[in-house]
Amino acid sequence: MKKLSARRRHPLAAVVVLLLALAATGGLYAAFAPADKAQADETAQSLAIKEGHKLYTVGCASCHGTGGQGTSDGPSLVGVGSAAVDFQVGTGRMPAQQPGAQVPKKKVIYTQKEIDQLAAYVASLGAGPITPAEKDYSPEGADIAKGGDLFRTNCAQCHNFTGEGGALTDGKYAPSLEGVSAKHLYEAMQTGPQNMPSFPDTTMPQQQKRDIIAYVNSVNGDETPTPGGFALGGLGPVSEGLFGWIFGLGSLIAVAVWVAAHTAKAKKS
Ligand code: HEC
Ligand code: HEC
Repeated sequence: MKKLSARRRHPLAAVVVLLLALAATGGLYAAFAPADKAQADETAQSLAIKEGHKLYTVGCASCHGTGGQGTSDGPSLVGVGSAAVDFQVGTGRMPAQQPGAQVPKKKVIYTQKEIDQLAAYVASLGAGPITPAEKDYSPEGADIAKGGDLFRTNCAQCHNFTGEGGALTDGKYAPSLEGVSAKHLYEAMQTGPQNMPSFPDTTMPQQQKRDIIAYVNSVNGDETPTPGGFALGGLGPVSEGLFGWIFGLGSLIAVAVWVAAHTAKAKKS
């Protein structure tokens, strides 16, 4: 007995117990904490999917089918991904109203939280492009000049050189890109809405998308660089050519008339 109590009171005993306790807590934390967090994320995610399903049933199922399989009034949403939902609902295109050549942009009727829930539900139907995070689409530090080159080769044939947009065939049109957010620009490239081709990361890496966004922002900003003077509506060679014709040729004619008038006067006197 004596021996035991003596050992119990060993000066190092408290330290040993403390160390053991610390190790146990650390171990327990390591074992349980990440699991807890993952579990919390998972429940938040399944909750979002559940809420999204409710919203979907009310607002989207009539055209896209009860399980997103599509109907004669709307395409299947299996595999379109959360980015497509964020773009379509976030720009007010969806829910679509009346049939027409192209579903137009409208007032957005869902909150961003509801859009995220709808997106979570649609993403749960099949893997597709994921809604980008701010670091994916932020134009900060991107290369505007490179973006301009990329824009002219990939986008200008439909959206015009500075993104004013333009008409396509059969009543379809490429809309103006003025005032479109960086996120929606990115998502449009990711998902290729309606008659627009998609530009997945395999053909157009994220950095190039950010360069394009930086370019579009720069031509839409107030500080549009117009090194040659007036912007002439930014319509490209046509308006610039017209300017050349009217002012260039006009002033040549004026000079010719002036010269002719003066030589005539000189001859008379
Ligand atoms: C009146 C019918 C109608 C309703 C209601 C509707 N849609 Fe659509 N949706 C369409 C049609 C038609 C298209 C194809 C044209 C297009 O891409 O805009 C489409 C396209 C889409 C696309 C693009 C698919 C792709 O391939 O990229 C998404 C995403 C989408 N809808 C989501 C929704 C969501 C979410 C709702 C509910 C908030 C909704 N839609 C409500 C008719 C509808
Ligand atoms: C073949 C023609 C075509 C090309 C090429 C094209 N687009 Fe589009 N784009 C369209 C059409 C058509 C729409 C309208 C789709 C819709 O309303 O669903 C559109 C829509 C968009 C939108 C949505 C604008 C809004 O008002 O919400 C953005 C952003 C966009 N395009 C960016 C680009 C960029 C950037 C490129 C080049 C990387 C590009 N597009 C290339 C035809 C094109």
